[in-house]
Amino acid sequence: MTSVPVHPLNDGTELPGVGLGTYPLDDEEAERAVSGALEWGYRLVDTATNYGNETGVGRGLARSGVPREEVVVTTKLPGRHQGYQETLASFEESRRRLGVEYVDLYLIHWPLPRIDRYVDSWRAMIKLREDGLVRSIGVSNFTAEHLERLRRETGVLPSVNQIELHPLLPQDELRAVHAELGVRTESWSPLGRGSEVLKDPAVDAVARAHEVTPAQVVLRWHTQLGAVPIPKSADPGRQRSNLDLFGFELSAEEMDRVADRPHERLGGDPDTHEEF
Ligand SMILES: NC(=O)c1ccc[n+]([C@@H]2O[C@H](COP(=O)([O-])OP(=O)(O)OC[C@H]3O[C@@H](n4cnc5c(N)ncnc54)[C@H](OP(=O)(O)O)[C@@H]3O)[C@@H](O)[C@H]2O)c1
Repeated sequence: MTSVPVHPLNDGTELPGVGLGTYPLDDEEAERAVSGALEWGYRLVDTATNYGNETGVGRGLARSGVPREEVVVTTKLPGRHQGYQETLASFEESRRRLGVEYVDLYLIHWPLPRIDRYVDSWRAMIKLREDGLVRSIGVSNFTAEHLERLRRETGVLPSVNQIELHPLLPQDELRAVHAELGVRTESWSPLGRGSEVLKDPAVDAVARAHEVTPAQVVLRWHTQLGAVPIPKSADPGRQRSNLDLFGFELSAEEMDRVADRPHERLGGDPDTHEEF
């Protein structure tokens, strides 16, 4: 089994250095992908109410036989359930679908500033943590302004901000804010959704120099930034190689080469994107 380093979070818990994404797997695919990945050594799994596969993820967890306390199970609050009471009720539904007594990491999926309920949702997340139903609370797609507002109005900063991050969008400024605040960065679409980055000649040259794949170079780049990538793969071979990142190191010049390209966002803009 591959050994993966862990990062300390600001609440005293730990986050494995790489995890498994599960969008857009259905319940059956997610069960298979999650149980296989856990057997192979993954200890961090990412889902969301809006992926519609929490039941499959929970079944995969149970089927793997890996002790529950070794696995960081992450899920996310959908926009339609933002608000204090709504968050508590939505969490209970997620917990039931996952079939777990507690969730390790619970995230607000998108800030949805237009409806302006993320602070109320955050207060409910704090309550869930106080009640022991969630180990760590965090957010996703929050900007520096959204993080600052949580701090100002509740005094509690997220442990994690899961953001779009890949060589097409290196997020230097937001990562610097995270480092200053003590918020761990998780990278969604870390492979740029398996896009052209993986076919890029510069990435390929780095991969050949280290005798690894382009995907391993890109994922290693994340880990050396201090970010936690959560690549999605339903393929056992790709799942394994996506975990095998800790036996080589990129030089500073190789790190620069990976992200040396025009930058572009593949997903929504956090200030305007609405996911209900
Ligand atoms: N918080 C948010 O708003 C948000 C938004 C988007 C995503 N996410 C999370 O982040 C996870 C990852 O993002 P993503 O799924 O959008 O993109 P990704 O992980 O960057 O890319 C996934 C794609 O790359 C392929 N792939 C995986 N490993 C590969 C490898 N070693 N070589 C070549 N191709 C490979 C996968 O296909 P195969 O399955 O065939 O390997 C899949 O088509 C999601 O699953 C989800 O959990 C969160």
